[in-house]
Order: sequence, then C-alpha cells, then structure tokens
Amino acid sequence: MNQKFNKAFWEEKYITSTDKWHTGSVTTPIKEYIDQISDKTQDVLIPGLGHGHELYYLSQSGFSNIRGLDFTDIAVKETANSVEDFPLDKVTLGDFFAHTGQYDLIIEQTFFCSLPISSRTAYVDKMYELLKPGGKLVGVLFDCNFATDTPPFGGSKEEYINLFKDKFAINVLETAHNSIKPRAGRELFFIINKQHD
Ligand SMILES: C[S@@+](CC[C@H](N)C(=O)[O-])C[C@H]1O[C@@H](n2cnc3c(N)ncnc32)[C@H](O)[C@@H]1O
Repeated sequence: MNQKFNKAFWEEKYITSTDKWHTGSVTTPIKEYIDQISDKTQDVLIPGLGHGHELYYLSQSGFSNIRGLDFTDIAVKETANSVEDFPLDKVTLGDFFAHTGQYDLIIEQTFFCSLPISSRTAYVDKMYELLKPGGKLVGVLFDCNFATDTPPFGGSKEEYINLFKDKFAINVLETAHNSIKPRAGRELFFIINKQHD
C-alpha cells in the first residue's frame, strides 16, 4: 500500500475541510450513466467513496447490490447525517488494494487521481481482478495535469489508453459532454470492459 497518501492523509483532508473535490451531490456524468442502466441487481462497487453521493444515488434509484469502499467513513457519515435512508450498511472500510469481491460495474470518480502515479499499474490490475468477466469500469478521468506532488494527479487520453489497453477493451474515452461546470473540458468520460483471461 502507498504509505504517503494513506488513511491519515485523507482523514486530515476531511477533518480540516480541505476536501476540495467534494461536489455536494452526484455529478452529472455518473448520474446520467446510472440513469440508463436497466438491470438494478448488478453488483456495483464505488472505490474511494468519499462522501458517498453516488452510493446514495444508486440506493435511491433502486439498485440492490451496491458497495462503497474507502479507508475512512468520516465523509460518508457526514452525508448519512444529512439525508434519510443512507445505506451505511453498504459501506466497507478498508484499502482498495486489499479488497476482495466480484463486480459487474465499478464506478470511478476522483479515486484514480488520488493515487500516486506509481500505483497506476496496480490500480489497473486490481480493477481487472475485481471485475467479473466482461465487467465494466465506468466514470471520469482528468484530462489535464495539475503540476503538483500531491493529489489530484492528472493525465491524458493517450496515457490512459496505454495504461488500460492490455487488460480492457476501451469502448468510450472522450471528453465528457455533461461535466459539472468546474470540470468542464477537463475530464474524459470512459467505459472500458474487462477483456477475457
Ligand atoms: C479525492 S477523494 C474522492 C472521493 C469521492 N470519489 C468523490 O468524488 O468525492 C479520494 C478518496 O479515496 C480514498 N482512498 C484513497 N486511497 C485509498 C485506498 N487505497 N483504499 C481505499 N480508499 C482510498 C480517500 O480516503 C478519499 O476518500
């Protein structure tokens, strides 16, 4: 596990309210993707859950087999205290790289960019392991560089293709047309499928 951006690092961000990535609700690219899914029984994972707005939206939309995963529950408890029926029982506390399970769909939003660049291959391998055959990794990735030595770490379409192409079929990887305003033009929406072993 990466020692620098560990549980204590992220908890400090939440405790000091320096969680600048917090959007306050489910973002449009993720919401619109969820809205068109008809099979609400599929197994869905949201790693790097943070405040858990996507988990809440899935739950409110009738999805039954959902799981959020994070080192810490500080942020998600804040959301749970502000809404009715937050599915706290669907939250697992722990390290993504130690998580076990099999999912049809994994949703990515500002988790990839929270990891150091040196962990990107491990992220791809872990996503591959956690997905069922043909399972999908879907979400948004930053299409810019932040020139910083702390998260978020950005990237480009070309870098992402090189990273994922050996283990995933890249079905969609394009500038999101429905980003929230502060991220408009700076994020790629992607849908990639686990290739068969
Ligand atoms: C930048 S935040 C994004 C939160 C959320 N996805 C959002 O969009 O608001 C990254 C989150 O990933 C969690 N995290 C980072 N590395 C992790 C790991 N290895 N295992 C589990 N959670 C991790 C942090 O605790 C933090 O809540």
